[in-house]
Amino acid sequence: MKYKKQNAANIWDERYAGSEYIYGVEPNLYLKEQLAILPTGRILFAGEGEGRNAVYAAKQGWEVSAFDISREGKNKALQLAHQQGVQIDYKVGELHEMDYEKELFDVIALIFTHFPEEERIAIHRRLSDHLRPGGIIIL
Ligand SMILES: C[S@@+](CC[C@H](N)C(=O)[O-])C[C@H]1O[C@@H](n2cnc3c(N)ncnc32)[C@H](O)[C@@H]1O
Repeated sequence: MKYKKQNAANIWDERYAGSEYIYGVEPNLYLKEQLAILPTGRILFAGEGEGRNAVYAAKQGWEVSAFDISREGKNKALQLAHQQGVQIDYKVGELHEMDYEKELFDVIALIFTHFPEEERIAIHRRLSDHLRPGGIIIL
């Protein structure tokens, strides 16, 4: 299983290695619509890749955390955040390696983040432990 995960990280690192942002630098439209109707607060992006959504949220005044298995994704995301004059907390790894507090986030967003089918339910449950009561998941 560890080998499989390392492999997945390598694949995403290779995809993100060039200077081009493969999903662009504009946020996902559904995310944008949802953030427009929510009060700002703390938001977590799972599998955030090159940071287009996280950086957009930070620009709208959200306190942003993000994680992804790709180190190249993090590098690109921090570069984008720097270019756009915002700060985001971005960690490399999987959810079980993160030390987020329970019930910390007002919103958790998974934008095109597709976990392997056999782990999906467990990861989604674990993610929801970090959502405050009444918090919102954007999927
Ligand atoms: C299709 S991309 C979407 C990136 C970003 N959310 C966006 O909308 O631009 C999927 C992302 O999920 C990440 N990913 C895949 N498996 C993961 C896992 N187990 N934990 C964290 N991130 C993961 C990949 O590295 C990749 O960046």
